[in-house]
Amino acid sequence: MNIFKRFFSTNKLNDIFTPNTVAKLTYVTRSIIENDLEKYLSLPGKQIVIYGHSGGGKTTLLRNKLRDVKQNFIKTHCESNTTFNDLILQAFDELNRFYISEKTTNTEYSISNELKLEFTGISSQINTLLKESNGEKSVRIVPPQLTPQKLAKFLGEVSCVWIIEDFHKVVSEEKKRIADVIKIFIDAANDYEKVKIICIGAVGTARELIELDNNLNNRIAELFVPLLTDIEIESIVSRGFELLNIGIESDLRDKIVYYSNNLASIAHQICYDLCFHSGIKRMRFFPKKLRSDSFRVAVNSYVRKNSDTFSKIYDAIVCQQYGWNVLKTYEQLEKEALSFEEIKNNIPNNKRPTDEELINYLEQLGSSEYKEIIRLDRNSKKYSISSPFFKAFLKMKFALEQSEQKEINNKKKQKEI
Ligand SMILES: Nc1ncnc2c1ncn2[C@@H]1O[C@H](COP(=O)(O)OP(=O)(O)OP(=O)(O)O)[C@@H](O)[C@H]1O
Ligand SMILES: [Mg+2]
Repeated sequence: MNIFKRFFSTNKLNDIFTPNTVAKLTYVTRSIIENDLEKYLSLPGKQIVIYGHSGGGKTTLLRNKLRDVKQNFIKTHCESNTTFNDLILQAFDELNRFYISEKTTNTEYSISNELKLEFTGISSQINTLLKESNGEKSVRIVPPQLTPQKLAKFLGEVSCVWIIEDFHKVVSEEKKRIADVIKIFIDAANDYEKVKIICIGAVGTARELIELDNNLNNRIAELFVPLLTDIEIESIVSRGFELLNIGIESDLRDKIVYYSNNLASIAHQICYDLCFHSGIKRMRFFPKKLRSDSFRVAVNSYVRKNSDTFSKIYDAIVCQQYGWNVLKTYEQLEKEALSFEEIKNNIPNNKRPTDEELINYLEQLGSSEYKEIIRLDRNSKKYSISSPFFKAFLKMKFALEQSEQKEINNKKKQKEI
């Protein structure tokens, strides 16, 4: 990086490594999915479902593409108790920034006075209905004028797409209503070609909407966002450190790639922790080299941060005398999915249970008691770890256990001398 750039750069650590927000400076393009997304965005009436593992980069990919093609959007979030009416109201609120506050957006737009008036009318009606419902907890009511057709019109007028995050979380009755609205939006594209709904969901949920309504089959494009490849993660790490003017040893970069388990959010988190604990908060004027031994601090920090969720599951599993061996087999054999025989043979003879006991145990690990951490694929009859985050946690936990054991052994040796 040239001296001029370094002098004027304002790159801050939290703009570069962004485990919880959309990456901009270190964004790695994913050309195949991005091209598909761009194609479907420009096709009037085509609705989109983006799905994949949590932390795989769905939101980041979509937001970067929308900015790239200068597409306006509003976003709403679903929880398990979100109703269809909540979503309509959330979407309406989001439109405020186009109709009322008129903030800067990706694309220019102009709204007819008539529609603007209608929007403010509905807005004040929502507030009046809220004041009237003076129960313990005020519930917002959707006024009759705010139909899905009207919402599509409001969106269309400002050339906006509607992002529904985590649509898979809502109960099926409400999901059915989302599917009905999607049909209305397909229709609305005849008047407003940009308007569309983009649903973002978890891995394995792509077909949910189509299963609810077969008519949607050709009208919804499903885009799978896989976890990032090792090369893509490596590129995030390299780019981020370059922006900070920090050199890292290749050994350290490889470790970050390995332990992040193809999850960009973990790679960002480890890099952030590494820099933070080394006192690097923004781009350095003079280059600095980060040493490999700072890695343990970052790993420790990740394991501690996740101790509530994952440590509980881990501790419960290793309570069983062969539980640790079951988990360790995934690391030792370096495989995503394991057959029953592979798991069994990796348990030492003195601990090995009967086949029936082991089958029951693995079934238990697939139950809600263990957060369904082990998943059995009925077709291949193989067992895999369902959450890539837990897998990343395991890699780090085993590494820490190993280095603790090494320290203990060293101390023992010293005593013997
Ligand atoms: N292509 C990318 N380049 C660089 N960083 C990325 C990329 N994709 C994702 N990230 C980083 O990984 C983190 C997780 O990504 P993101 O939030 O987009 O995942 P997600 O699939 O939407 O997860 P969730 O399902 O939990 O919402 C982001 O904070 C972002 O910083
Ligand atoms: Mg997301």
